[in-house]
Amino acid sequence: MPIERTLILAKADAVARGLVGEILTRFERRGFTVIGLKLVQPTSATAKRHYAEHEGKPFFDGLVEYITCSPLVAFVLEGSDVIEGARAVIGATNPIKAAPGSIRGDFAQTIGRNLVHGSDSADSAAREIGIWFDESELLARPPALASWLIAS
Ligand code: RTP
Ligand code: MG
Repeated sequence: MPIERTLILAKADAVARGLVGEILTRFERRGFTVIGLKLVQPTSATAKRHYAEHEGKPFFDGLVEYITCSPLVAFVLEGSDVIEGARAVIGATNPIKAAPGSIRGDFAQTIGRNLVHGSDSADSAAREIGIWFDESELLARPPALASWLIAS
């Protein structure tokens, strides 16, 4: 059970629909800790850098337009196996296939407006956290608290 960090974006539709608090709550009540948080108006360059793996795909331009059309809330979560765990809290990419109880399964309808981003691997998490946050903006919880939170 490694302690990991992951990058979450509450995208434009989450902000516009007033779902940021609900989304944060879902991660917090799972036991993950918010160690960095900001409201950001992404530039096109930042959006393209973040989603670089999708450059050239048919949905890429629409994706960049979607996540730059209004401010989003970026946050870093820390916790045990948080990369996989946060993806489970978020649900499948296509909300129609996302399980009820997941964020996308409870609040979204279409793949192009699926509310939340979560890093999909340790390498992606490190790269993406570096795009949105300076290390000095991340306030890690004390190690003793981390042990207490995940003790079984
Ligand atoms: P995310 O990166 O936002 O957490 O989403 P994901 O891992 O579940 O899915 P990914 O394959 O990385 O796709 C990134 C985002 O691109 C949009 N998308 N649209 N129209 C389409 O076929 C399509 N496929 C992907 C979604 O907004 C998806 O979250
Ligand atoms: Mg992805």
